[in-house]
Amino acid sequence: MKAIVRTKYGSPEVLSLEEIETPTLTDDGVLVRVHATSVNPAEWYGMMGTPLIARMAFGLRKPKTKTMGVDFAGTVAEVGKNVTRFHVGDEVFGGRDGVFAEYVVVGEAKAVLPKPANVTMEQAGSVAIAAFTALQGLRDKGKLQSGQQVLINGASGGVGTFAVQIAKWLGAEVTAVCSTRNVEHVRALGADHVIDYKRDDFTRSDRRYDLILDVAGSRSWRECRRILNKKARLVIVGAPKGNRLLGPVSHMLKTRLASVGSRRKLVFFVAKIQKEDLAVLADLMATGSVTPVIDRTYTLADAADAMRYLGEGHAQGKIVLTI
Ligand SMILES: NC(=O)c1ccc[n+]([C@@H]2O[C@H](COP(=O)([O-])OP(=O)(O)OC[C@H]3O[C@@H](n4cnc5c(N)ncnc54)[C@H](OP(=O)(O)O)[C@@H]3O)[C@@H](O)[C@H]2O)c1
Repeated sequence: MKAIVRTKYGSPEVLSLEEIETPTLTDDGVLVRVHATSVNPAEWYGMMGTPLIARMAFGLRKPKTKTMGVDFAGTVAEVGKNVTRFHVGDEVFGGRDGVFAEYVVVGEAKAVLPKPANVTMEQAGSVAIAAFTALQGLRDKGKLQSGQQVLINGASGGVGTFAVQIAKWLGAEVTAVCSTRNVEHVRALGADHVIDYKRDDFTRSDRRYDLILDVAGSRSWRECRRILNKKARLVIVGAPKGNRLLGPVSHMLKTRLASVGSRRKLVFFVAKIQKEDLAVLADLMATGSVTPVIDRTYTLADAADAMRYLGEGHAQGKIVLTI
């Protein structure tokens, strides 16, 4: 099968489309013909091998794995002999390593579920990492309750466009922060208030929040604390690319140090790919509460171009690869 592979770290030129072995079907697994996947900052960092500290996980001198990608949507091509819930031809979506490829094998019990009929393959293939992050950040780490005030800083990209919709579904009053060109778009996703960060400083607002979901990581603890209620939370999802050694971790360390002794809670987390949450997201899409927003679509062969665009840091929703 064709897949995007890389054998060394570096800019998108290290990616190449090659013929590799189709994964072997397991008794408890389904072989999925992948139709759509999407690129995430996690893949950018994994490709670049930065921050250097992350090479302890990625592989010290070269990547541990040749293949990449997590989000997928596709059609079941074959099922293992113990599989009962899926059949050949079913349209499915989920999250699994190594999906920048024509085929992937996913355990039946893992993060794979029927694709809601009302979303396209491209939309379903853009869900996993970004939507898990938004859901877990707001609901589990942010403990967001109906009627509370939430501010989402970085509302227009992959995670942000899911976060605005999921926060509305959770019943919160949503303030979204984005740049001028995205204001109307983010309002259309359901944000109650939109702050254009090019014109206004959200940390100077009179409004107070129960939760800031900080996707952009563009402001300090001191600045954010000013607009947090006394028992509020700051959940840091992302941060600027930072220096080569520590990358986004340096923003997190600085914020942690600055927050010591505060009654307000600071939380960092890495989203987990889990079937229960995939079911929540499938339901949210099926009922129309969440509609994935696609910015651009590239073919698998143009994965390097998709990564270059992602690396600019100004996606308006998700960047999809079709296969
Ligand atoms: N913790 C986790 O498990 C987890 C999971 C996924 C992602 N992340 C992290 O979350 C971050 C965002 O990921 P993503 O997939 O949403 O990236 P993305 O799709 O590239 O979106 C980035 C967005 O950030 C906005 N932005 C840039 N500078 C900003 C600023 N100063 N203020 C407000 N918004 C700003 C951009 O909008 P403009 O064009 O308007 O500037 C763009 O829409 C990354 O740092 C990523 O590593 C963490």
